[in-house]
Amino acid sequence: MAAPLGIIGSGAIGSTLARLAIAAGLDIVISNSRGPESLTGLVSELGPRARAATVVDVAREADIVITAIPLAAATDLPAEALAGKIVLDTTNYYPQRDGRIAALDSNESTASELVQAHLADSHVVKVFNAITFASLGNGARPVGDPERSTLPIAGEDAEAKARAAEVVSTLGYDTLDTGRLADSWRFEPGTPIYCDPYMPAWPTEKLPFDELLAWLLSAPVITMSPERAQELIDSAVRGAAGGYFPETA
Ligand SMILES: NC(=O)c1ccc[n+]([C@@H]2O[C@H](COP(=O)([O-])OP(=O)(O)OC[C@H]3O[C@@H](n4cnc5c(N)ncnc54)[C@H](OP(=O)(O)O)[C@@H]3O)[C@@H](O)[C@H]2O)c1
Repeated sequence: MAAPLGIIGSGAIGSTLARLAIAAGLDIVISNSRGPESLTGLVSELGPRARAATVVDVAREADIVITAIPLAAATDLPAEALAGKIVLDTTNYYPQRDGRIAALDSNESTASELVQAHLADSHVVKVFNAITFASLGNGARPVGDPERSTLPIAGEDAEAKARAAEVVSTLGYDTLDTGRLADSWRFEPGTPIYCDPYMPAWPTEKLPFDELLAWLLSAPVITMSPERAQELIDSAVRGAAGGYFPETA
């Protein structure tokens, strides 16, 4: 029996990817910081193909593990249990949430290089970071659909990137290989491809959090072709690292 897809983190991105995986017919095993008991509601919503486990058990059971946790928590990831595994890293650097990280502020490194340095024996592929959870959930389309979008990926290992691309394809997206993790700043916060091109312009007025969330969830998804993705990646200019959350009323 094929190993389930592992997901560490059950928040906005982790639960969205869990729903896409279940919709695509995959088995998943998911974890968070509070333990499997806290995931009863999500798992029952997801149905019989989903199970909750501890972070270490997810890492042990799955061959491919999505990490959907804040960057600052990446050093908690169990490196030994994840050794040899493909890790699909969704993390972005948000100093408001993660604190300041000197190696990123100086542009010496990228967020996923830091994750790879911690998970030295894993094959880290950065993906799913450059689209909001709302666009990600609403924009999944089957192979060949004219509205299917492209997501940028990066990683050190060609075989791991090929397997990552297969998983991403199953979940509803084409991929554009942008190179190594050192190149992944090209789709980090503040770059031309980061989140905004997949959605309409943000509301100009400051909305209360709940209204902004409702707006995000109902916003149509703008299809990202591979050609447009390549243009946006090529047009990126490296500036200050890190993103900022939109202000709410
Ligand atoms: N939100 C987006 O639209 C979006 C888009 C692209 C990329 N990202 C990136 O994806 C990552 C996750 O973002 P999110 O918005 O999904 O965050 P979130 O909604 O706050 O969820 C974070 C999840 O991480 C878990 N977690 C935190 N520390 C952990 C630890 N030490 N071990 C295991 N699990 C831990 C939390 O567990 P508990 O549930 O137990 O608290 C929670 O389930 C971030 O790096 C973010 O920048 C987010």
